[in-house]
Amino acid sequence: MHILNSLDKAPGGNGDRKNLDTCSIVIFGASGDLTARKLIPALYHLFKENQMPATFRVVGFARREKTDAVWRQELRTALEQFSRTHPVDNAVWAAFADNIFYCVGDLTDDAAYSKLEARLSAFGDPALRENLLFYLAISPSQFGEVVEQVHRSQLLKREGPGWQRIVVEKPFGHDLASAHKLNHELTRYANESQVFRIDHYLGKETVQNILMFRFSNSIFERLWTRESVDHIQITVSEKIGVGERGGYYEEAGALRDMVQNHMLQVLSLIAMEPPVSLEAESVRDEKVKLLKSIRPLTSEDVARQIVRGQYFAGAVGGQPRPGYRQETKVKPDSNVETFAALKLFIDNWRWSGVPFYLRTGKNLPMSASEVRIQFRPTPNVLFAAQCGTQLDANALTLRLQPNEGISLHFNGKVPGMSLGMRPVRMHFSYDSEFGAYTPEAYERLLLEAIAGDATLFIRHDEVETAWKIADSIRTGWEGKPLTNREFYAAGTWGPIAADDLLATLGHTWHEPQVIK
Ligand SMILES: NC(=O)c1ccc[n+]([C@@H]2O[C@H](COP(=O)([O-])OP(=O)(O)OC[C@H]3O[C@@H](n4cnc5c(N)ncnc54)[C@H](OP(=O)(O)O)[C@@H]3O)[C@@H](O)[C@H]2O)c1
Repeated sequence: MHILNSLDKAPGGNGDRKNLDTCSIVIFGASGDLTARKLIPALYHLFKENQMPATFRVVGFARREKTDAVWRQELRTALEQFSRTHPVDNAVWAAFADNIFYCVGDLTDDAAYSKLEARLSAFGDPALRENLLFYLAISPSQFGEVVEQVHRSQLLKREGPGWQRIVVEKPFGHDLASAHKLNHELTRYANESQVFRIDHYLGKETVQNILMFRFSNSIFERLWTRESVDHIQITVSEKIGVGERGGYYEEAGALRDMVQNHMLQVLSLIAMEPPVSLEAESVRDEKVKLLKSIRPLTSEDVARQIVRGQYFAGAVGGQPRPGYRQETKVKPDSNVETFAALKLFIDNWRWSGVPFYLRTGKNLPMSASEVRIQFRPTPNVLFAAQCGTQLDANALTLRLQPNEGISLHFNGKVPGMSLGMRPVRMHFSYDSEFGAYTPEAYERLLLEAIAGDATLFIRHDEVETAWKIADSIRTGWEGKPLTNREFYAAGTWGPIAADDLLATLGHTWHEPQVIK
């Protein structure tokens, strides 16, 4: 298992993968945005850091006519824009680009796959034809076709020789039924163990560190239960609005775009039981178990426990923003949510009775992802006279981004003759501890897929369980237009209804911290 490798691979670590198999990475959707923005920059950085297999090829597949040389040049130009390091190293790029090839073809055309097969065989080394990572950077509606075609052309087999894996991207369906259908299409000609479903949140160092932190620190793990924890807040806020993506967002909304995938993934890592080992299946078993323990939501529960929101015109950081209904490709009477807040309960031994609050939204005051573990307050018998009844309870904040790190909040005596007290904080910051080593999530995920470790990828039952939760919420919202308490001005922390949601149990939202 390789979760630990993220630490090993930091500068000074010793976890470089020396023994990755020779393989070809075949990208369907080679001329698209994802390839130029994320995949090629990630592969370039892996190559630069000596993490790629000693022998590999990248073969792009798409309809647009171009030669290997033209594609390489286009990717080089895109890298200037999307690389996380600058300047792009010319020598490294030249050596990397020698391994990149382009195959013109329509993915509905049988002949195109014969051409692809011929191209792979022509590399000469049998491992470059047999060990294949198919990256489907295409629309999910095309997954079934590609899987069937690579199977028919003998490029994809359930049993060797070599290995073949399929990597797919979100959106993984838009509800339980479509996700189920997609799972079926992907596994018609491949085993579940060959399918790698990406949720890029799991590629983030800080998200991976949740398990490390929880299960390697006895002082915190023993507090990680209903006995000590009052409630937990997970915030994923975005400063941007929907911008040009109105068409997509009208079909998605915050629930499908963020909650069903990223937020439930973070929740499952925060709340799951210790796995029996760090093997992929053990970790994923525990995540599924946790998701299944989330108390099912009836339509009445949805009305009480889930809040939608939609932004109207306002300003973010001094910049004016239009309302959602005025965005391009958005219906003027749209009820799509740009904000969602959830109060969930996990019906298991550890978490019984502890509310989990999740919120996400667009056009909020800042972009941040953060988990706050709010501990139970002490009985305030000693200090009430001096400090009032409102002594802050302890809290632990995991900052997933930005200012990646962890903070512990506790109370400290204000120096002086009085017995005054106030909250103080202890910070751990990744940057100051480990230096600015920030690999992109895609680097990690591509490397894991090449290595065949599925721990950081989502299993079919995980996806489907998460959709079941999202579907029950959508059902509760059906036919109910947004109310006044669900609109919020762009640049604020969401609608009043989201505050009401916490107020019923005497809680309030904590704004993500800005660490200076
Ligand atoms: N872009 C991102 O940052 C991002 C992030 C997360 C998830 N995703 C997901 O990743 C997938 C790809 O996104 P994208 O933004 O890269 O899309 P895109 O820019 O529209 O690219 C789509 C690619 O598919 C190819 N294609 C379409 N029909 C084809 C056909 N019949 N035969 C062969 N190739 C075909 C296109 O190439 P030709 O036109 O040349 O054929 C193009 O290379 C989508 O499912 C998206 O939701 C994207």
